[in-house]
Amino acid sequence: MSRIFRDDLFAGQVCLVTGGGTGIGAATARELGQLGAQVVIASRKEANIRPAAEGLSHELGREVVGEICDIRDREHTAGLIDRVLTRFGKIDLLVNNGGGQFFSPAEAISGKGWDAVIATNLTGTWNLTKAAADAWMLKHGGCIVNVTMLTEGAFPGMAHSVAARSGVEAMTRTLAVEWANRGIRINSLAPGFVASSGINRYPAGLDLISRMQSFVPMKRLATCEEIAWFIAYLASPAGNYITGETIAIDGGKSLWGDWWPIADPDPMPPVVIPKEPWETGGE
Ligand SMILES: NC(=O)c1ccc[n+]([C@@H]2O[C@H](COP(=O)([O-])OP(=O)(O)OC[C@H]3O[C@@H](n4cnc5c(N)ncnc54)[C@H](OP(=O)(O)O)[C@@H]3O)[C@@H](O)[C@H]2O)c1
Repeated sequence: MSRIFRDDLFAGQVCLVTGGGTGIGAATARELGQLGAQVVIASRKEANIRPAAEGLSHELGREVVGEICDIRDREHTAGLIDRVLTRFGKIDLLVNNGGGQFFSPAEAISGKGWDAVIATNLTGTWNLTKAAADAWMLKHGGCIVNVTMLTEGAFPGMAHSVAARSGVEAMTRTLAVEWANRGIRINSLAPGFVASSGINRYPAGLDLISRMQSFVPMKRLATCEEIAWFIAYLASPAGNYITGETIAIDGGKSLWGDWWPIADPDPMPPVVIPKEPWETGGE
């Protein structure tokens, strides 16, 4: 049972969640399923998708369908949309949550690393959005939520991903305008730091997490469930008049400081506070 929304809020709706086998995606699949949706989760690895589909099906008491799809591959994304439509006849909600990157100073990002992060987070989001639009939403309407990251300021250590996510947010604004008259709403949700499987993948582990925490005014990371609630809100009738937006869910993080140290071998220059001529010698 959802802690926030009415049980049948998404009854009869078909929702596709990428990256739905882990972290934020799995929490989103659970929340939508608890609200009555027919949920399909998709990502690259059988080892992520199969246990999540089985576990969520068991929890919800009805089938959550698991699909293998690499969003970078247009044959995969077209095939996934085709299978969802063949089986369920429609797609009401697409959650573009699947993505990933690695922390690196910009000078250490290789061409291959850059291409991979752009292909996953920018092109991958476009691939599935376009496939869903072409095959269903441009004729019948629908809702799309893209999970991005904080892009307002600099994001040192993430030059590739912040570029990709900024692209997704600009795409969100543009598609919202182009597709509003087709009954499509599209928004982005930018999480700050979320206590999820994704954070666990970073090598610095708990040290990194406590550093992150110390830069959040609310003094904690978001839960995956808190991100899922906002996705459900945007997709529900409460979000009916919201389109083209990017909403930060970050406990105030984006309002306060930067937490990633810039590698710089030179010491800080001394601070000199100049005096006016008449101020010198008079003390
Ligand atoms: N956790 C945070 O603090 C945070 C903050 C800002 C933004 N985000 C973003 O939120 C989203 C979810 O993150 P999370 O924290 O839940 O981390 P996560 O567990 O690493 O989730 C990422 C998911 O994306 C899937 N994925 C990666 N590449 C894919 C591809 N090419 N095709 C299809 N699926 C792919 C992964 O599954 P497979 O490996 O099976 O493909 C995985 O399920 C990500 O886009 C992440 O970057 C997270």
